[in-house]
Amino acid sequence: MLRRLFRTLRRWLVAPDGMSTSATMADPAPVVTIDGPSGAGKGTVSQLVAARLGWHLLDSGALYRLVGLAAWQRGVALDSPQDLADLVADIDIRFAGGAGGEERVELDGVNVADRIRTEHCGELASKVAAIPEVRAALVAKQHAFREPPGLVADGRDMGTVIFPDAPLKIFLTASARERARRRHKQLKQKGIDGTFAALYEDIRRRDERDRQRGVAPLAPAPDAMLLDTTSMSIDEVVETVVQLARPMGGRTE
Ligand code: DC
Repeated sequence: MLRRLFRTLRRWLVAPDGMSTSATMADPAPVVTIDGPSGAGKGTVSQLVAARLGWHLLDSGALYRLVGLAAWQRGVALDSPQDLADLVADIDIRFAGGAGGEERVELDGVNVADRIRTEHCGELASKVAAIPEVRAALVAKQHAFREPPGLVADGRDMGTVIFPDAPLKIFLTASARERARRRHKQLKQKGIDGTFAALYEDIRRRDERDRQRGVAPLAPAPDAMLLDTTSMSIDEVVETVVQLARPMGGRTE
């Protein structure tokens, strides 16, 4: 793991001719990708890392949840790829707030931040995410988040498909049992129902579907750093990622 870390840092700091690679006008904004299965802590970690670095945040899972919700609201069949792709082109999505402030996720002008976090929307998201036409229609929307001073991109295929040139790629994991425990606690805090057993089953089923789908299956990029968070605190994970991102120019205080 250490060797991979040094390789990542060296690639960022030193050009092949030994010259420093300090950013030029033509360089795209730096990206840290944070991929992994549901409940590994990506959402919280990504939000906190983005806040610490002073960078933008892309919650790509929220995009799939929004598409699932929009399809359900408008009665678009989940087995109709072209209608779903047209839907993606038609909906208006806006993100605002986050870390500290109230999170707003707007679908056609309506704040659905809480609504998209329900298990129902998670299920719909997992289904639409398995459709290649939906994934293709969302690529440009995701690239648009890459703006100076930098981006923290949270998802399943951020390091493999959407930002394969990202200088720092993290793959967060945790045991399925621990992830179900975290999700259960999170839902309880929000006053949303759900038994541990049902959540555990749900997570296992969704993992299976995300790993086995033909398009952009859930897997770490070959150059990603694996971070098993089963027995790490959120603060420890955030600190680790922030320190790794430090050479990329983000604010670290
Ligand atoms: O991270 P999440 O639980 O909000 O994601 C919801 C669903 O969307 C989940 O089934 C995985 C899928 N997803 C995906 O396929 N690709 C992404 N980049 C992000 C999420």
